[in-house]
Amino acid sequence: MRKKLVAGNWKMHGNLAENNDLLNAVVAGVTGLRDANVAVCVPYPYLASVQEILRGTNVAWGAQNVSQFDKGALTGEVSTAMLKDFSCTYVIVGHSERRTLFGEDNKLVAEKYVAAQKAGLIPILCVGETLEQRESNTAEQVIEEQLKAVIELAGVESLNKAVVAYEPVWAIGTGKTASPQQAQDVHEFIRKGIAAQNEIVADGLTIQYGGSVKGNNAAELFAMPDIDGGLIGGASLVADDFITICSALQN
Ligand code: PGA
Repeated sequence: MRKKLVAGNWKMHGNLAENNDLLNAVVAGVTGLRDANVAVCVPYPYLASVQEILRGTNVAWGAQNVSQFDKGALTGEVSTAMLKDFSCTYVIVGHSERRTLFGEDNKLVAEKYVAAQKAGLIPILCVGETLEQRESNTAEQVIEEQLKAVIELAGVESLNKAVVAYEPVWAIGTGKTASPQQAQDVHEFIRKGIAAQNEIVADGLTIQYGGSVKGNNAAELFAMPDIDGGLIGGASLVADDFITICSALQN
């Protein structure tokens, strides 16, 4: 059975005191959940303290971005080795906010994905279409190209050690969730596309849904056959909501 994963994406939120309270509550709330893989992807400065709090618990941690380069005169960048220094398990690559606000294209995202895997990190590769693309019926093509860039550079087998997150851009932070069926249709499209190249890889691939997942809609989304958990923004900052979402993995 493939792994189901709920990962929090804190984005640029948090401070030392709030993080501490939030994580202690989350750890207490998810301890004892069966089959629940849970992680939080936090801003870089907090990795040290997050590691201290989460070490030995059943909550993993990671970052929200990483450099494609190993090291060098690259002011402001953070390398995969630095993330490994803080025992990160995951790193998000190609989040739509990175793509749209910081100009990351498919090629750069694929390079970051490769760098992450080379260092032993599990990339959470975000794909998804804008509203305009959905309305012009190009969503599938956009997602196909996003995946193709990675598969061309790293090979389809690389998805054995990765997570894909389908995040329709129109659903992120807007309160507009894709309906379970809408999300399922895209997840199935993604899995079938990969299966055409390697059925075993497709079968084992964790495909998360992201975009306004909340405590009150997680269970119906996660019940769909090709939805293997979620990437959670806003609701990951509220302990009770995040715990409810993690609990929905068990249903
Ligand atoms: P949201 O964000 O849950 O706040 O919509 C999801 C994401 O951007 O990963």
